[in-house]
Amino acid sequence: MSLCFTHIYITMINFDKNFIYLHTKNTSLVFEIKKYLYEDEKYIKEDRYFITQRYYGPSLKEELSPKEPLLRPNGSSNDYCNDYLISSSFGNGNNSEVSLLVFNENNSAVTRLFYKGFDIIKGGKDVKVPHARNASETLHIVEKDDVSGIEVHLYYSLFEDSDVIVCKKEIVNTKQNVCFFRKASSLECPINCKNVLITTFDGAWTKERTRHTLNLSSGVFVNQSFLGSSSHKHNPYIEVVDNENKLHYAFNLVYSGNHKETVEVNPTEHSSVLVGINDFGFEYALNKGESFMTPEAVMVVAKSTDEITFKMHNFINNHIINPSYRYKDRPILFNSWEGSTFKIEEKSLLEMADVAKQVGIELFVVDDGWFSNRPNDQSGLGDWTADNNKFPSGIKKFAEKIREKGLKFGLWFEPESISINSDLFRKHPEFAQLVPGYNPFARRHQIVIDMANKKVIDYLFEMISKVIEEAELDYIKWDYNRLITDAYSNTGIRCGEYMHRFIMGTYELLDRLTTKYPNLLIESCSSGGGRYDLGILYYTPQIWGSDNSNSFYRSFIACGTLSAYPQSTFGAHVSRDYSVTGHRSSLEDRFNINCLGAFGYEMDLRQDGKEDLEIIKKQIDFYKKHRHLIQFGHYYYVDNCFDDDRYYSFVVVSENKKEAILSVVELSPGVPNKTWKFKGLNPTAIYEIEMRPQANADIKLLPKLSGSELMDTGLDLGSLYDEKDNNVFQKGIYSRMIFVKEV
Ligand code: DGJ
Repeated sequence: MSLCFTHIYITMINFDKNFIYLHTKNTSLVFEIKKYLYEDEKYIKEDRYFITQRYYGPSLKEELSPKEPLLRPNGSSNDYCNDYLISSSFGNGNNSEVSLLVFNENNSAVTRLFYKGFDIIKGGKDVKVPHARNASETLHIVEKDDVSGIEVHLYYSLFEDSDVIVCKKEIVNTKQNVCFFRKASSLECPINCKNVLITTFDGAWTKERTRHTLNLSSGVFVNQSFLGSSSHKHNPYIEVVDNENKLHYAFNLVYSGNHKETVEVNPTEHSSVLVGINDFGFEYALNKGESFMTPEAVMVVAKSTDEITFKMHNFINNHIINPSYRYKDRPILFNSWEGSTFKIEEKSLLEMADVAKQVGIELFVVDDGWFSNRPNDQSGLGDWTADNNKFPSGIKKFAEKIREKGLKFGLWFEPESISINSDLFRKHPEFAQLVPGYNPFARRHQIVIDMANKKVIDYLFEMISKVIEEAELDYIKWDYNRLITDAYSNTGIRCGEYMHRFIMGTYELLDRLTTKYPNLLIESCSSGGGRYDLGILYYTPQIWGSDNSNSFYRSFIACGTLSAYPQSTFGAHVSRDYSVTGHRSSLEDRFNINCLGAFGYEMDLRQDGKEDLEIIKKQIDFYKKHRHLIQFGHYYYVDNCFDDDRYYSFVVVSENKKEAILSVVELSPGVPNKTWKFKGLNPTAIYEIEMRPQANADIKLLPKLSGSELMDTGLDLGSLYDEKDNNVFQKGIYSRMIFVKEV
């Protein structure tokens, strides 16, 4: 631990005098250690220091001058209250929303933290909960309030290759018998600007991650969830653009529970962003000697939104995804839900499996309805054994039959819920969230199981493991169709800790299962995409994006989701056309829009005529040929449908720029034709151009063009709508995919 201010150089973190510099490939973060010169100084003998953030932006490596680093002026020198604090607390005199609030045993809520020192950790600070893996280096800063004994450890980990910095805090009670902390943000990031654009990704069931942007020049903006999970409503990912310096910042949280992102703009000072667990209903007890580690907050800064998206994708693929699935191609799956719902029956499933194999599908998934007491959604959750009436020869035999056809096999579970009408509830009502005196609030006839109870985790681990082993599962769809209403554990957990301990229980179960079965692929889901976050992605490399696979809505859901999360994580299926939404589209268009992620088909394929199955087979052949490019290629927005809701187009480019796919979508009939442009190609290379053959389109393209022609002039595809279709106004989506390859 060092308080010293001498010069030393250590790869990505170095310090000089009272500055600490952190460098990723293209960004720098600088802290300044300052002498505390506030008015009580006359009563205090020893020197005291505090730490502030002086810069976060594009790399300073070039300009680094040990004597006088060119940093943003902060106006008031040594004014603790208005300074760019990274760990503000109530009672330290600062003027903005604080990141730490502790109720002390002497009934005060004052915490005054002073800087004590720092050290550098090779790699990251290990934690058992979800975290970014393989940090390059970590700066560990220690602050302490000597009066209350509250100690705060800040860990800033560098992910050099992705240009991402991750921060978490550990709060330690060193002195009091017990204290209660009410708020502990993981990250406090000051921004030197008084006018910001904030972008969030909000929605509801079937409308996940819709982009919204607002301008804030004064006041406090909050993006949060208090439903027990990260939620459909407000994803924890936010972008903040500094309108004065034109810098783009983005933040996320490696957490699946209640989150809160606060942006405060002070017209006379600066702005700041707080990211962490939501303090709504939160109160955590720390006995003497105990500590609490916050989840990790992720931050990135860049000069454009495109750059932000690239860095976030890179970071998630390299540092969040389970290493057994890092850049590993995801299988093409068949899912029974849309085609069969609860009408699960061995004979028809085997027939579907035959068709699935015939068209090239690789993984066969039986969704809800396979287990005991589950004729519909009113019963059975918790009874994780196969229904013998539906699988007369048992699930083991059924799985063998599927494998014999050359398909992998997967099943659906909803571990965090329990049906009142279930054997588990009858035997163990104490496993459910039941507040004494109240009828539990049932939604979809189900209540939430008490994931904070160790016995529940043991039960679920045992039951799920049994099925995994019996059926030799390759895949699990992990659903969660609830919000928490009856937050309660009869094991005596304090109510202010419950929501956090619930999600810790979910993580423990996921951790035990993924450790025991490292090759098991888990796809998470939460009534569609209601828990799309970095905490869940740490265990489940892909997430079902939405129950809405209608091409029109899916375009918006994909466009929003891919701002923050890479294609490989985004579960998307071709299902039957939804005429009910008024936006109908052909099988080819449904493929073009849904194939951009972890892909599959979700309909009773037996109902498709020979012609459609032929189309599906060709689609799957195309997908297999370009799967790695589609799932892991560098993703660029060309036409963002949140900017102009008539078009959505994007490009995925291979790392060596030798191959790319341009996907173009017209989102309503009769929109003006446009030229469609590539991005990210090698301007001087010559590319062969090939349109994905579609049953409803036959366009002759120039055989070859240079990268710069493809990017600057683009391709004129004429009108995209299906000329043969007289009923044009009942359809709504027209799309194409163009593949280019360097000659
Ligand atoms: C909600 C999911 O989003 C659907 O895909 C499906 O798995 C159902 N639950 C099953 O109950």
